[in-house]
Order: sequence, then structure tokens, then C-alpha cells
Amino acid sequence: MPESQLSTKHLLGIKYLTKQDLHLIFDTAKEFKEVINRPIKKVPSLRDITVANLFFENSTRTRISFELAEKRLSADTVNFSAASSSVKKGETLLDTVNNILSMKVDMVVMRHPAPGAPMYLSKKIDANIINAGDGTHEHPTQALLDAYSMQEALNSDLAGKNICIFGDILHSRVALSNIYCLTKLGANVRVCGPPTLIPKHIGKLGVDVSFDVRKSLEWCDVANVLRIQLERQDIKYFPSLREYHNTFGISKAMLDGLNSDVVVMHPGPINRGVELTGDAADSDQSIILEQVENGVAVRMAILFLLASRRKV
Ligand code: CP
Repeated sequence: MPESQLSTKHLLGIKYLTKQDLHLIFDTAKEFKEVINRPIKKVPSLRDITVANLFFENSTRTRISFELAEKRLSADTVNFSAASSSVKKGETLLDTVNNILSMKVDMVVMRHPAPGAPMYLSKKIDANIINAGDGTHEHPTQALLDAYSMQEALNSDLAGKNICIFGDILHSRVALSNIYCLTKLGANVRVCGPPTLIPKHIGKLGVDVSFDVRKSLEWCDVANVLRIQLERQDIKYFPSLREYHNTFGISKAMLDGLNSDVVVMHPGPINRGVELTGDAADSDQSIILEQVENGVAVRMAILFLLASRRKV
């Protein structure tokens, strides 16, 4: 396999990528970032490719970002939303996808509430599958755009950098994909949040654990703050949102009290005033909108590299 190819046919999770894959994706994304900042933002790289965006769960950023990435690469696209589809009439995932594929689709971008749904499909169909978030499992393109944005903000690779992931680690696919990605890149990774929202055996993934937000902010170069995922919490993990904010929320005043400037990130959507105050989210230290911009370039890189592999 030439070094300019990914080691995998699908993007199911960061767990299945090599360090070399990560660097290839970042180098390719850098080139596409330059392209999307030109007056003419479109290239013909995916002109003969049809991509189906299958969203079985809500999304704003990921869906628009993939659609834009596909359009910038000149792919043909079809969009599917479970809420307005025959899934509501009882059709299975495999039947839905096979019907779409019989219309000659080459690549599938899929978000699904069930962990493992993209892996299941990849064993049943021939198209390249890109996981756009599967339940509480992985959100690989979010982790890739996060790591790319961290490198850009720090103007450095991430080996030896201190990255803390704050918040609801238990229910977060972004947390797991970030942990796989950042540890592969040699960063020191910590998770910080209430004990009830941190999985018991997470240390086995090579991260350390803290329950102290202030100490963790003092320690880190980058704070990746995650959303409290109330829609996935069927029991109470903390007494109230106000108490969560008082103990684990991050504010501009806390950032101003640190000895160094921590880079602040959030994958969105933000619960303003819960995990992050509005003034922290909008501060000069925040790169939240840069993350969104970089998401298009990173997704162009993934689509391009997986499509290139089809020709091998
Ligand atoms: N970050 C993220 O996945 O956002 P959406 O749910 O809006 O796609």
C-alpha cells in the first residue's frame, strides 16, 4: 500500500486508524483548507462519486459540514433524514441502505443512535462507510477536526502537550474518539468531570482522571469542554444544572485567573451557562468557530482519501 493511502476502506472509528493515517489526513486537510479559502472553492476530485448522507439522529454541524465538503469536491449527494423516511414505517437499517445503494451510491456518511451501526453496515455492503457519530461510541471526524484545530492553535504537533477533556465523558462519543486520537499523537490526556460521569475503567485507555476543574485548567494547554448530554441521561448524575455549573462549569473569570492562556474548545452544540459560560465560549481563547471551519477541510480530506482508495 503506498504511503499516500489510508490503511482502511472505511472510517468507522479512530481506534482503527494508524498514526500514519492521522498524519496523512491532517496533511491532506491542510491542502483543502487552502482550497476552501480561495475565491473558487471547488475542485473536481470527486466528480464521479455519489455520496449518501444518512442521518438517523439530529445534527447541525456534522451534516452541513459533510454536505459542504462533498459539494466542494464536486461529488453528487443525496440526503436522507430518518424523521421523514420509511424508517418510520418499520423498514430495517439494512433494507433502507440497500435500497439507497441500488441507486448506485459509492460512499455512505452515517449518523445513527446505535453504537456499532456503521460497523454492522460495513460488513454487509460494498460502499465506503464514514461514521458521523454512532450513539455513545465514536465520532471520528469530530476528533480529527479537534486534533487538527489544536495543532493549528498551538502551532505545534501534540506530542507532550497537555489536553484535558472536561464534562460528560460517560455519554460522549467525542470523548472516546478524542482519547484514541490524542493518545496516538503522543499527547498527555486527562479527563475531568463529576465522578458519576467518568467511566470507572477509563484509565485503561491511557488517560488520567481528575475531579478538580481549577487544577486541570492550570495543568492543560487545551481545554476541550463537552456538552452535558441530557438526552442520554435516564437517571440523575448530578443534583441540578446550576450545581453542575457551580462545580464543573468553566467561566471567563476562571480562565483570566490562570497563569497561561489555555485554548478553549467545544464540539457544539453548547449548553451556554452550564458547561461553559457565554463569555468563555466567545473569548479570544476560544477556537470553537475555527473548529467548525476546519471540519469542512478535514471531511474533504477523509472523503478524498477514501475515494482515492477505491481506485487502488
Ligand atoms: N459536533 C457535532 O457533532 O454537532 P452536531 O450534532 O450538530 O452535528
